Amino acid sequence: MLIHNLSQLLTLSGGPQRGSDLGRLNILPNGAVLVRGETIAAVGAADELLAAYPHEQRFDAGGGAALPGFVDPHTHLIWAGDRAAEFEMRLEGKTYLEILAAGGGILSTVRATRAASLEQLKAQTRLRMQTAFRHGTTTAEAKTGYGLEAASELLQLQALLELDAEGPLELAPTYLGAHAIAPEYRDNPDGYADLLCGEMLPELRRWWDAHAAGRALPFVDIFCETGAFTLAQSRRVLLAARELGFPLKIHADEFDNLGGASLAAELGAASADHLVKTSTADIAALAASGTVAVALPCTPFGLAEPHYTPARQILAAGGLLALASDLNPGTAWCENMQFVIALACRYLGLTPAQAVAAATINAAAAVGRSERIGSLEPGKQADLIVLSVPDYRHLGYRFGGNLVKHVIKKGRVYTNGE
Ligand code: NIG
Ligand code: FE
Repeated sequence: MLIHNLSQLLTLSGGPQRGSDLGRLNILPNGAVLVRGETIAAVGAADELLAAYPHEQRFDAGGGAALPGFVDPHTHLIWAGDRAAEFEMRLEGKTYLEILAAGGGILSTVRATRAASLEQLKAQTRLRMQTAFRHGTTTAEAKTGYGLEAASELLQLQALLELDAEGPLELAPTYLGAHAIAPEYRDNPDGYADLLCGEMLPELRRWWDAHAAGRALPFVDIFCETGAFTLAQSRRVLLAARELGFPLKIHADEFDNLGGASLAAELGAASADHLVKTSTADIAALAASGTVAVALPCTPFGLAEPHYTPARQILAAGGLLALASDLNPGTAWCENMQFVIALACRYLGLTPAQAVAAATINAAAAVGRSERIGSLEPGKQADLIVLSVPDYRHLGYRFGGNLVKHVIKKGRVYTNGE
């Protein structure tokens, strides 16, 4: 299939973009993409490719701009129920951490999720995947984390693997058994960290080898935060995970600066995420490492808090910056990466070009997949989106709607509104 009639083809070629390099879109005007099966076979000028492949099936993209499908590298995609009542409590003055400390927040979603069957979890999650896909996300990281006990965490992981197999949205799974202190360990948080290290993570490894042998291991993540896990507990859990072979992620500095970002850099984590209260020293440590800094602007927006990730400081220090939705029922129920880009342009000080690169090639790096997705280059998976507008800068500029007309996933075309 030869995709042509594209006003702008944003290739994002050349690999992840660090520091001031961010925003190198490598745009071909009047470009075209040759897709063979699930893979991009060629990218070039439309007149040249149309002449070189005269018998190829053609797909007329209607004059829109095209770019790699969005990669959303931080979602809590799978849960049961909702927290609309807590949203109202927050508007009336309770803070997120106060609600968590009183046994609500993450713990109220844990109660609903523990009570849900595999089929119920899949049905609720599938709706969110469809929404994300229609808005241009072609790969999403997806965390467990609303079980906080081995069986429930593994049931969420099983649901994620089954949903990934259904497609078309592709998932990169993460085990977040360390999302909060399990209610059974409320008075013994170290006991829950011991359980994670001594039992839950080894069980995860055995489960994975039995159920997903041959697949890359999932990430292991932890919420390093006041009211969740301390820095010392985070180090212990992440070291145990690394020992078992798992790649790492961390939730760091969402509300307080505990040093999680430097820990991520030291341990070689794939990413450190949130980074709102991150210190200058932590930013320097991240920038000197291969760890991707993932900003989640929907979270302060969703909490109506004034502080956002200091993205420009991270870039000035030479860091690798990515964007994600943080899709979750507490702080950010948003499946739409276009809205994330709109927030990043306003509150993180990014240009549309920088935000697009942070939501594609750099986001792919945050899930360890930048060799396969995140840019439009021969040999890469044919995951791209075509906008209903000719200028990519409408991403960021416009918000609240959907500018994606076609989503092409593994070479197959899905058209919105049909
Ligand atoms: O990334 N910070 C921890 N996890 C989520 C919130 C999850 C929830 O409130 O259910 C976050 O913001
Ligand atoms: Fe999160």
